[in-house]
Amino acid sequence: MAAVSNTIILVLVFALLNGAYAAARLGSYNVDKSKISVSGISSGGYFAVQFHIAYSKTLMGAGVVAGGPYYCAEGQLNTALTSCMNRLLPSLMDVAKYVDKVHEDAKNGKIDDPTNLSNDLIYLYSGTKDTVVRPVVMKSLERFYGYLLNKNNIVTMFTTPSEHAFVTDDYGNLCSYLGSPFINNCRYPTAYNIFKQIYGSGILPANKSSAIEKNLLEFEQSEFFSTQMDNIGYIYVPTGCQSNATACRLHIAFHGCKQGREYIDTTFALHSGYSGLAEVNNIIVVFPQIHKSILSNPNGCWDWWGYTNSDYVNQDGPQMSGVKKILDRVANI
Ligand SMILES: *[C@@H]1O[C@H](CO)[C@@H](O)[C@H](O)[C@H]1NC(C)=O
Ligand SMILES: *[C@@H]1O[C@H](CO)[C@@H](O)[C@H](O)[C@H]1NC(C)=O
Ligand SMILES: *[C@@H]1O[C@H](CO)[C@@H](O)[C@H](O)[C@H]1NC(C)=O
Repeated sequence: MAAVSNTIILVLVFALLNGAYAAARLGSYNVDKSKISVSGISSGGYFAVQFHIAYSKTLMGAGVVAGGPYYCAEGQLNTALTSCMNRLLPSLMDVAKYVDKVHEDAKNGKIDDPTNLSNDLIYLYSGTKDTVVRPVVMKSLERFYGYLLNKNNIVTMFTTPSEHAFVTDDYGNLCSYLGSPFINNCRYPTAYNIFKQIYGSGILPANKSSAIEKNLLEFEQSEFFSTQMDNIGYIYVPTGCQSNATACRLHIAFHGCKQGREYIDTTFALHSGYSGLAEVNNIIVVFPQIHKSILSNPNGCWDWWGYTNSDYVNQDGPQMSGVKKILDRVANI
């Protein structure tokens, strides 16, 4: 009897912890459907690449910080950790096989036709002192994109002396520091340069006080995913986009490992620079959030090596299709 009631109590406590708080249903907005883009850092950088490649019909550009080519890990954690991150060989990757994989997945209807990539705009960042995802990996990503789109559409920043971090000009640790929240102040505004490359030189700069905290909303994430994610995601809806009076741009920003809500709450959304720029430039920014899992994903990373399933890289991947559903809801597609 006692054992039974303990079980019931445990179940109730678990239910309360998990379900008592439900965030608001994600809304739809007036989005310019030709101005949708993505970016991300580290596991989120790898994820931004695979999401961009898989949904190139919908997207017009991508920003990548410390990520790498499509299917680099080939479904293997060990490959992810070695050749795709801590690559000790200074030589560039043989990226032709990842390009072949893109064409093969497209032929099998797993991703959009890569001809849709041809006019896309790409921004790539790698710090010279990055010891987690080595600069040679990002230089390989530059070559990978060079096979799929016009090389003149790629802008790179590979000379800032930063460790593995999202670099800003007004917030974070010392440029050479490695650690939480993985945002470093190197007097270089990465988010601004991503938006400028993708949306053009008309993008206005922002500063520490540009983001309005109440415009960063929580939304219920679980309805979009078949596998476990954080229950809550964030969306920054600029003042100018709330009434639908103007068609706004839409951007999805993928956090890195140990950068989700469970680790640093709203820090990535509010202090990486995206939200201030969003406010000033009428860009709606979604920050989807990963849930860490002790066995399969202990550091709360986006899936770019296959911990969800073997389709993780294409449109059938649960995280991929879930984020696409989020995009479709926000943009009313
Ligand atoms: C904005 O437009 C979307 C899509 O049409 C609609 O669902 C939403 O209710 C509108 N919001 C407002 C505040 O009018
Ligand atoms: C995407 O590529 C396909 C195949 O080349 C083409 O038919 C389609 O028009 C393209 N879509 C866009 C939005 O460019
Ligand atoms: C910061 O940017 C806002 C616009 O977002 C502007 O009104 C304000 O003057 C700027 N502040 C500083 C200190 O530059």
